[in-house]
Amino acid sequence: MRDAPLLALRDYAISFATPDGTVRAVNGLDLGVQPGEVLAVVGESGSGKSQTFNGVFGLLARNATTSGEAKLEGRDLLGLSPRMLDQIRGRDMAMVFQDPMTALNPAMKIRKQLAETLTVHRGLSRREANAEALAIMKRVGIPEAERRIEQYPHQLSGGMRQRVVIAMALLCRPKLIVADEPTTALDVTIQAQILDLFRDLIAESGTALVLITHDLGVVAGIADRVAVMYAGRIVEEAEASELFARPAMPYTAALMRSIPRPDQDVEAVEPIPGRPPDLIRPPTGCPFHPRCRFVEDRCRRERPPLAEVAPGRQAACWFPFIDETAGTEAAQEAAHG
Ligand SMILES: Nc1ncnc2c1ncn2[C@@H]1O[C@H](COP(=O)(O)OP(=O)(O)OP(=O)(O)O)[C@@H](O)[C@H]1O
Ligand SMILES: [Mg+2]
Repeated sequence: MRDAPLLALRDYAISFATPDGTVRAVNGLDLGVQPGEVLAVVGESGSGKSQTFNGVFGLLARNATTSGEAKLEGRDLLGLSPRMLDQIRGRDMAMVFQDPMTALNPAMKIRKQLAETLTVHRGLSRREANAEALAIMKRVGIPEAERRIEQYPHQLSGGMRQRVVIAMALLCRPKLIVADEPTTALDVTIQAQILDLFRDLIAESGTALVLITHDLGVVAGIADRVAVMYAGRIVEEAEASELFARPAMPYTAALMRSIPRPDQDVEAVEPIPGRPPDLIRPPTGCPFHPRCRFVEDRCRRERPPLAEVAPGRQAACWFPFIDETAGTEAAQEAAHG
């Protein structure tokens, strides 16, 4: 057995009340995040990646209802008061979003924002906090840190702002950072720099990272493990290199073929046919069955549970490994380098 997970989601569900009906965004999800690991969460738009972790951080919209368990080091986060949750956020776990301005105060100098985090959450004196704020600015690779730290967020480039947010997330030495598409808004070279930085800092600090992303190239470069989401469930979970070499679930295989890779011709990209399921009236059986090229009667009738399909491999599929076309050599290469 593995160590006790840092974050454990069990039978975790989120639904949203809307005029059209109940949107079942997350459905009986089970997921563990181990201390220090980098877990990538991937899946099409609308599959529930963001809401799953927004729920963990107490950041859901007001029409949301949650059930099940979301435990950080054994403590259930779902029943906590906003004040308790506020304390845990920032100190034990931090979130990094696509838009750095969601975490930054536009009217406050960078130094003050960083130092305040340190005085509030770690009880440092003003002087200690200022010194550490400057040190972390340098650590996240901001040039002319002494000058930049006296500036306001709008005076920095998007890439620099995201570095500041990462610095802020790391300041309290959290055990868990969740980054939701942290580089999607940045240009490609900056993306690569930020991800390298993330990987180094995570390795150094022993922080666990959940990286929510569309970009399978990013996943291959940074993740230890991958969880694939479809219609608010985990449908496959594996070590990154194994998943890329040989996806078990036809959806994972289709997802891999649908995303352009730098080592591939654009013609090789194949969109997934059909549309993501209606989350108000989900299909019977396997939620992917209407789009699956290997569909059988059983798939239409019975929903396959997430189960072990090979040593260390979990998938929710009645016919795992049936789609042999996606685990190419190129994918294996991407997974290793
Ligand atoms: N407040 C809300 N009310 C109703 N439905 C919502 C609400 N917030 C989110 N949803 C729905 O929940 C589902 C899951 O959304 P989520 O944001 O988790 O998707 P995602 O996987 O992060 O997608 P993306 O890759 O586009 O960010 C979507 O169908 C979305 O429309
Ligand atoms: Mg999202």
